[in-house]
Amino acid sequence: MKVLVTGGTGFIGSHTCVELLAAGHEVVILDNLYNSERSVCDAITAIAKKPVQFYQGDIRDRAGLDRLFEAENIDAVIHFAGLKAVGESVAKPLEYYDNNITGTLTLLESMRAHGVKRMVFSSSATVYGLSATPPFKEDAPLSVTNPYGRTKLMVEDILRDLCAAQADFCAVLLRYFNPIGAHESGLIGENPRGIPNNLFPYINKVALRQLPELHVFGNDYDTPDGTGVRDYIHVVDLAKGHVGALRLCESSTGATAINLGTGTGYSVLDIVHAFEKANGISIPYVIDPRRPGDVAVSLANPDRARQLLGWTAHKTLEDMCRDGWNFAKRAMEA
Ligand code: NAD
Ligand code: UD1
Repeated sequence: MKVLVTGGTGFIGSHTCVELLAAGHEVVILDNLYNSERSVCDAITAIAKKPVQFYQGDIRDRAGLDRLFEAENIDAVIHFAGLKAVGESVAKPLEYYDNNITGTLTLLESMRAHGVKRMVFSSSATVYGLSATPPFKEDAPLSVTNPYGRTKLMVEDILRDLCAAQADFCAVLLRYFNPIGAHESGLIGENPRGIPNNLFPYINKVALRQLPELHVFGNDYDTPDGTGVRDYIHVVDLAKGHVGALRLCESSTGATAINLGTGTGYSVLDIVHAFEKANGISIPYVIDPRRPGDVAVSLANPDRARQLLGWTAHKTLEDMCRDGWNFAKRAMEA
């Protein structure tokens, strides 16, 4: 298939482009480079040994989208483009609704005008909120507590409504758990600007001695060591899940939510110790109060992904720590 990948130069998008090319798909990237670099296309090509087409543009630009769909014969869209920082979304809700909601609506309208009926959407485990019991099954109750999470749930609802109205539309709503790590080549990975919010990029900065110590947000949760437990997944495993989702979209219609996680949980201190062991670098830390909005445990039930996508995660926590650091030490030092 010829696949439009919005946000394709970003962290998850770039790894997905590599896997799509490896699976024999053609890739067209649309990205406004708000949170990524044009050079990522060269890295994708270097890894996959196949070209990608790149359009610099915004998903809110209807005329630009129309030109792209007219020029390319797109069969399906994988939609990563959006803003993703929870804290920032609380401070700047209008920017989040504009980018993530208006942007998605504009993209869907342009798709409709050009007869494109398949979308794989980047949702998040954050839609399970505080009301579900881990490990989360896809039919668990959904609730969100911040504007970022609300944009994910709203787009899920929009796609469910669209599929109900248009019987030949397929939407796969992939609920990512905690993607970390990087491609083993070290050529693509996650390089957040400024002080990272998420655990793994923060640990990388401490390992680089650019930050003095990790702040562990709470050690009084009801978990084995008291620190928060998450379902960390290697970004290459996550990327491969999108190839399965495209296959599902080729052969079915309707809206289907699918978790992409491993089903195994690790605590903050598990991650610290695994990173230290894999890379031989000490990570000093201090215990801070809980971060508002955090849950004790977030864990996927990965059964539906196995059944519908024929997909399971294979890479280990050691792989995640080694590959993530391999990228970060080059990218963040530069
Ligand atoms: P990222 O920021 O690395 O990638 C997103 C890309 O989209 C960037 O390259 C950015 O420049 C581009 N973009 C943003 N707004 C755009 C717009 N209006 N038009 C065109 N391009 C635009 O983020 P990521 O970690 O790769 O996440 C990809 C998607 O997955 C996001 O939708 C995110 O919300 C979702 N997600 C991420 C995580 C995670 O932990 N990384 C977890 C759950 C869900
Ligand atoms: C966060 C977001 C979630 C989003 C996901 C991916 C919040 C409340 N949740 O999830 O909506 O989908 O990122 O972008 O922001 N931790 C520390 N010290 C740190 C950073 C994190 O102890 O400096 C802990 C957290 O308390 C948590 C774990 O590490 O227990 C993972 O945190 P993080 O990487 O931010 O991911 P989530 O909180 O799962």
